[in-house]
Amino acid sequence: MTEYANILVEQQGRVGLVTLNRPSALNALNKATMEELVAAVTAMDSDPGVGAVVITGSGKAFAAGADIKEMADQGYMDMYVADWFRGWEDFTRLRIPTIAAVSGFALGGGCELAMMCDLIIAGDNAKFGQPEINLGVLPGMGGSQRLTRAVGKAKAMDMILTGRFIDAEEAERCGLVSRVVPAADVVSEALTAAGVIAGKSKPAAMAAKEAVNAAFETGLAQGVVFERRLFHSLFATEDQKEGMAAFTGKRQPEFKHR
Ligand code: CAA
Repeated sequence: MTEYANILVEQQGRVGLVTLNRPSALNALNKATMEELVAAVTAMDSDPGVGAVVITGSGKAFAAGADIKEMADQGYMDMYVADWFRGWEDFTRLRIPTIAAVSGFALGGGCELAMMCDLIIAGDNAKFGQPEINLGVLPGMGGSQRLTRAVGKAKAMDMILTGRFIDAEEAERCGLVSRVVPAADVVSEALTAAGVIAGKSKPAAMAAKEAVNAAFETGLAQGVVFERRLFHSLFATEDQKEGMAAFTGKRQPEFKHR
């Protein structure tokens, strides 16, 4: 497996695990970390042996944001010409399901990376925030859009305009995270959930992810038609035959395309 400087990459069964590994900088997402993370998950995405990916942090943080020290001296032309943060778009194009396992701080770009994942499992010590306003800027990795879609305008405005952090309990209440577990269990809970997903039919899981994501991109009627087309298309798969035969045969399915 490729060695990286800023992340650790493992595979457990059919689940990929990427651990952000700059704990002395609270896993601040500098350009090198972004490039490594995107390269690692892109390789997993096209690996038939991987069915789901977990992204987690280390030490006190999932990630405390984009690297402020790296950005501080940049000018407008530098940011524009480099198209700073553009690399994250590749993360959002992954087809296999991704889970953020968040322990500690998920701030700024860290919160935005968690929101790029398909679901967030939080430790009870998690703190989410978009504190860019305190730096004289605003979220730049999609936070103003994804947070608003996830939690609604009122909470998103509150977090983005005041920079206030919310704890795991508030994050679950407002729909930002799907589960809260004791901090010590967050990675194992995420790996278990990812293992469950990786045990399903891979084309069905990829289509389901595509359909849910379409809810953010399209109107209701168009989204429902898109879903229905995907539903129809899965009837071309052996896994649909197997899943339905297993149900009628009162046995567990053995999906071929996992
Ligand atoms: N960038 C670069 N370095 C960071 C960092 C970041 N986002 N967050 C923390 N660090 C570094 C600190 O500078 C410090 O390094 P040194 O030991 O070399 O001084 C180290 O990590 C530990 O941090 P603290 O000493 O500050 O730890 P703390 O426990 O006292 O505070 C914290 C924790 C409240 C999270 C605080 O570190 C903090 O406020 N971090 C910045 C959070 C932030 O503003 N994030 C948004 C970044 S901008 C962004 O993300 C833009 C975007 O939308 C993509």
